[in-house]
Amino acid sequence: MITLTQIRAEAEKCTDCPLYKHATQTVFGDGPAGAQIVLVGEQPGDQEDLAGKPFVGPAGQVLDRALSDAQIERKKIYITNAVKHFKFEPRGKRRIHSRPNAVEIRICHQWIARELSTVAPGVVVAMGATAAQSLMGKVIPIGKNRGRELTWADGRRGIITVHPSYLLRIPDADSKAREYKAFVRDLELAASLLRK
Ligand code: URA
Repeated sequence: MITLTQIRAEAEKCTDCPLYKHATQTVFGDGPAGAQIVLVGEQPGDQEDLAGKPFVGPAGQVLDRALSDAQIERKKIYITNAVKHFKFEPRGKRRIHSRPNAVEIRICHQWIARELSTVAPGVVVAMGATAAQSLMGKVIPIGKNRGRELTWADGRRGIITVHPSYLLRIPDADSKAREYKAFVRDLELAASLLRK
């Protein structure tokens, strides 16, 4: 069977869509091959692009705190993104995140499909609309599908929740705290599905 290391080496050479041209590197998933939970984000951000690892920047810090509050060890789960290259608009010295489009999500799906075949987790968590679109093969609303088990297009069990960057953008402290708790509850739900 093909290993994650082999798939990663192939993904590092991917030129199937134009995003590789401006990104520093392919940011492949991270975590053990035997992980029972896979978390899927959108695409690497500025810091992930430079580090070559998913969720190491501000969104990663929120995610780490939420995982710890949900009593899930980050080192035991596999974390990846729907799109493996950073898409951005240059603005002065800064690189501003730009959302991947449907074509980029579809072309990049080959990598997540291969990661999931190899890891074979019991539950796959989509964090945000881009991850859900990649896993379902079509746009699905978060609000309506949140808080319950669903089945992804490949037949795997999963849940959908918000993206941790969404939590960072909420200005009001009460709403932020409420949404953070709901995010932790979603992660707890994912862990509880494994026990069923
Ligand atoms: N946002 C994502 O969706 N993925 C990352 O790796 C970092 C930020």
